[in-house]
Amino acid sequence: MSISKQYIENSKKRFFSDPKSIDEIKRIREEAAKDPETFWSKEASNLRWFKKWDKVLEWNKPFAKWFVGGKINASYNTLDVQIDNKKAYIWIGEDGSRREITYNELYNEVNSLANGLKDLGIKKGDRVSIYLPMIPELPIAMLACARIGAIHSVIFSGFSVDALIDRINDAESKAVITADGGYRRGKIIRLRDTLEKALEKCRSVEHTIIHKRIGMNIDLKKNEYLWQDIARKGFCEAEEMESESPLFILYTSGTTGKPKGIVHDTGGYLTLADASTRWIFDINDDDVYWCTADIGWVTGHTYVVYGPLLQHATILMYEGAPDYPEPDVWWDIIEKNRVSILYTTPTALRMFMKLGDDLITKHDLSSLRLLGSVGEPINPDVWLWYEHVIGKDKIPIVDTWWQTETGAALLSPLPGIRLVPLKPGSSTYPLPTIDAAILDEEGREVKPNTKGYLVIRKPWPGMLLTIWKDDEKYKQVYWSKFEYYYTGDYAMIDEDGYFWILGRADDVLKVAGHRLGTMEIESALVSYNAVAEAAVSSKPHDIKGESIVAFVVLKTGYSKDGVIDALKEHIKNTVGAIAIPDEIFIVDKLPKTRSGKIMRRLLKAIVSEKQIGDVTTLEDEASVSEIINAYEELKRAL
Ligand code: WTA
Repeated sequence: MSISKQYIENSKKRFFSDPKSIDEIKRIREEAAKDPETFWSKEASNLRWFKKWDKVLEWNKPFAKWFVGGKINASYNTLDVQIDNKKAYIWIGEDGSRREITYNELYNEVNSLANGLKDLGIKKGDRVSIYLPMIPELPIAMLACARIGAIHSVIFSGFSVDALIDRINDAESKAVITADGGYRRGKIIRLRDTLEKALEKCRSVEHTIIHKRIGMNIDLKKNEYLWQDIARKGFCEAEEMESESPLFILYTSGTTGKPKGIVHDTGGYLTLADASTRWIFDINDDDVYWCTADIGWVTGHTYVVYGPLLQHATILMYEGAPDYPEPDVWWDIIEKNRVSILYTTPTALRMFMKLGDDLITKHDLSSLRLLGSVGEPINPDVWLWYEHVIGKDKIPIVDTWWQTETGAALLSPLPGIRLVPLKPGSSTYPLPTIDAAILDEEGREVKPNTKGYLVIRKPWPGMLLTIWKDDEKYKQVYWSKFEYYYTGDYAMIDEDGYFWILGRADDVLKVAGHRLGTMEIESALVSYNAVAEAAVSSKPHDIKGESIVAFVVLKTGYSKDGVIDALKEHIKNTVGAIAIPDEIFIVDKLPKTRSGKIMRRLLKAIVSEKQIGDVTTLEDEASVSEIINAYEELKRAL
């Protein structure tokens, strides 16, 4: 019996004893699929609308407008309708400091900053970039933008100068909200200084707002303000936003080109964020919910900010790294704060597996009742370890699959509706109305247990509106390979209809759960004066999932001495430390097809130590002999 069959049998006998749940979920999904619009209008009715929509969906493929004619505000829904003294955030600093913020306080803070932004002349539709560490000011800044109808574009605080320039310029942001600095593993990361360098090349920015996190002395320049100086106490009216107006842009990486600005709407996104959080996490009033993602990525947007706030949850936020200042800091936090829901990444779990179970078992984790995983495929052995060592074989695990583009999780077990028996490594079924399918190269559905491309055949609320300022690219990236929304992922459906995600089908990298583009790293490498050409690939890594490998060709006349270290430093200062390659190979030339395309899959195969037999079928444009020659040549060079 396969591991999954065996597991499903066991799990029926254990905590998910009701074998009827699969049939029930199937029935709910079938019912919803008959009339998705009625289904979603019921869900949307859980939110507060200033004006109800006239039409649930306007589908002008591939452009969807949800709840057309409806007026809504994200800050109003997360705050105004639920003001009380329940804790919204429990924030723990890397140095052990602690802040608790009630819904009432959050409401006041958001209103004050929103007033300040308005006073600076920021209005509905303006873009505001937010470059802040994991501190409560980050959700406050997002919600303040949402309150006045400005579109927020959060930039992960681990990114550096060039990454900021690309993102601020593309969005043409009018203002940037930042901090003097943040802490990372005891070191100060000087965010405002990095931003200043970037702003030399950003013309659209009229105002910079700085929050004092570190307490550094700041010599304010023209158009720079301290947060505390512009925040103005008092009520700020929440702007009535059209449902389909953008709530935020979040830049994400693809295979080619610069990072793409993924645009999300307000009404559809909030509906999916709300419903998915309810179904997946089923948060009760006394739960302490902890999603460990940084808000700089989409998981943080949907499951640290909008989704759980809509549930009136108490949300834990930790500023530091998973193993700093002590390797057991997470488990200590869970014990002391009675965390009941933990949602994290396979990378973190693999790291803890390596550090040894004692770090975990010495803590009382009895408050936990639900575990989640996100961001990359979770290997069955890691899943089983998660269940056994952290869940003590008593707690279900929800493996949630989704993307920046999808807005929220689309494949996941749904304990808030009906929990089906779990299989380690599978995200079980799509959410109701999500029409996911697996296709072969020709666009035909594949048989069970066959690998293919994951697509979504019908629009859903929360799906991206477009790529910022680039409808053509949106069509080309997501809607040209098949007639449906193409995810870029490989997946498979098993004989029980369970989905298994098998990783990216393109060159998008997932390093420690962070989504990075080969192109962004390549252009950063090439911007270094000694480098003529660069190609970036990845190889499997036992903790990070993937690690970055770069190949560079130097310009003639430049010596190899010291170049590798200098390049690593250069990547750190331009893109950010998360994009530093683990390995950099200096080669005489890159393997290319006759038409000049770099043979990326060949590079990947070589660094993953695959045999040439596995490689020859990989490059569609090259002949077998070309590939073999390039392979032999490169092998000799390494
Ligand atoms: C991968 C993160 C397997 C997938 C929410 C997807 C996953 C990409 C899972 C999107 C999962 C996300 N199992 N793979 N549970 N969740 N992925 O935009 O390859 O940062 O396409 O969004 O992460 O990454 P993104």
